[in-house]
Amino acid sequence: MSGKVKVAVLGATGMIGQRFVEMLEDHPYFEIEGLYASERSEGKRFGDTLKVRDYNYKQETLDMKISKMDVDHISKACRIAFSGIPSELAGPTETELAQKGVAVFTNAGSHRMDPHVPIIVPEVNTDQFCSIKDQDTYGNGGYIVTNANCSSTGIVVPLRALNDAFGLNEVFVSTYQAISGAGYPGVPSLDIVGNVIPFISHEEEKMETELAKMLGTYADGEFKYAGFKVMANCARVPVIDGHTESLVIDMKESPSIEEVAKVLADFRGEPQKLGLPSAPEQPIIVRAEENRPQPIYDVFAGTPDRARGMASSVGRIRCSNGYYKMWVVSHNTLRGGAGGSMLNAEYAYKKGIL
Ligand SMILES: NC(=O)c1ccc[n+]([C@@H]2O[C@H](COP(=O)([O-])OP(=O)(O)OC[C@H]3O[C@@H](n4cnc5c(N)ncnc54)[C@H](OP(=O)(O)O)[C@@H]3O)[C@@H](O)[C@H]2O)c1
Repeated sequence: MSGKVKVAVLGATGMIGQRFVEMLEDHPYFEIEGLYASERSEGKRFGDTLKVRDYNYKQETLDMKISKMDVDHISKACRIAFSGIPSELAGPTETELAQKGVAVFTNAGSHRMDPHVPIIVPEVNTDQFCSIKDQDTYGNGGYIVTNANCSSTGIVVPLRALNDAFGLNEVFVSTYQAISGAGYPGVPSLDIVGNVIPFISHEEEKMETELAKMLGTYADGEFKYAGFKVMANCARVPVIDGHTESLVIDMKESPSIEEVAKVLADFRGEPQKLGLPSAPEQPIIVRAEENRPQPIYDVFAGTPDRARGMASSVGRIRCSNGYYKMWVVSHNTLRGGAGGSMLNAEYAYKKGIL
């Protein structure tokens, strides 16, 4: 017996599920009980389903078998379910798991706007974790914690740092989102190679609401959304991994560029203070070069090794006409996906909420 918490990975043959498996190898708190997907994948060897191509899994992981998702079995065998399944399936499945006493940490969007379900990025809003106590299932140990969609996650940590230091009035964001954000096999190659698609279904609405929810508060049983405006334009670009985002920000105060860079680089949150295993030592890396950040160089930013791809890289910080401008790159399936849920579960473990 390892004494580690047993976890299920839902959607283990998909882009997010395989990042969960990567992050769970030799994890100090958690141990994989089972890898789950649809009946199409039942009985397959994990190594024969690989979508992640930049990480070498251990042989014993490659030899694990995929099981068909079975909520009854998972609820008996596991304390945690890490979820990387499509939204339409995640809605009822995650509710059922929580009802059966499982702590669900999910990437899917279906529960993000539920009244007592938090969207947590632990550098930003661990104070909202208390909302799980108002979920109907909390009494029997089950609850749902979501992380934000991948484009919101990349910028919410820098926005938290800037809001705390200088106050935000308005945020205009334009995204250049990687193909892996659409799951596997994602956007058809004939649509995306040599092209930019200025439409990602529901992405702009998600960014505008999720950022306001995360940067707001939870009190008296309800979320109060942050008061500043967010306006988003989202596009898909022919990049494999790593969302690039352009920010134009109106702030209440008028700091110098150097002050803005220092606030970002010095920012540390709860995961850093608690020393969580997947927490990047420096969550925001400020690049001084004139042509960074770029996904090709910066997508795996983050140290130590367990936190690779968990830092946001910010660069080209400028000010014109009273607006602050900058670019951000972050990993959409690590920081913006599985890594977000992993950090949330590590926080819950460390705080004794499991
Ligand atoms: N990709 C990103 O950057 C990103 C970021 C944040 C959040 N998300 C969210 O995370 C979730 C997973 O996304 P993804 O990109 O990993 O998608 P994906 O690559 O398409 O993977 C989907 C997974 O769900 C499984 N699945 C599908 N139907 C199922 C069923 N009926 N029963 C059990 N398992 C089933 C698939 O198994 P089979 O192989 O057996 O079909 C596969 O393992 C989605 O809700 C997505 O919106 C994605």
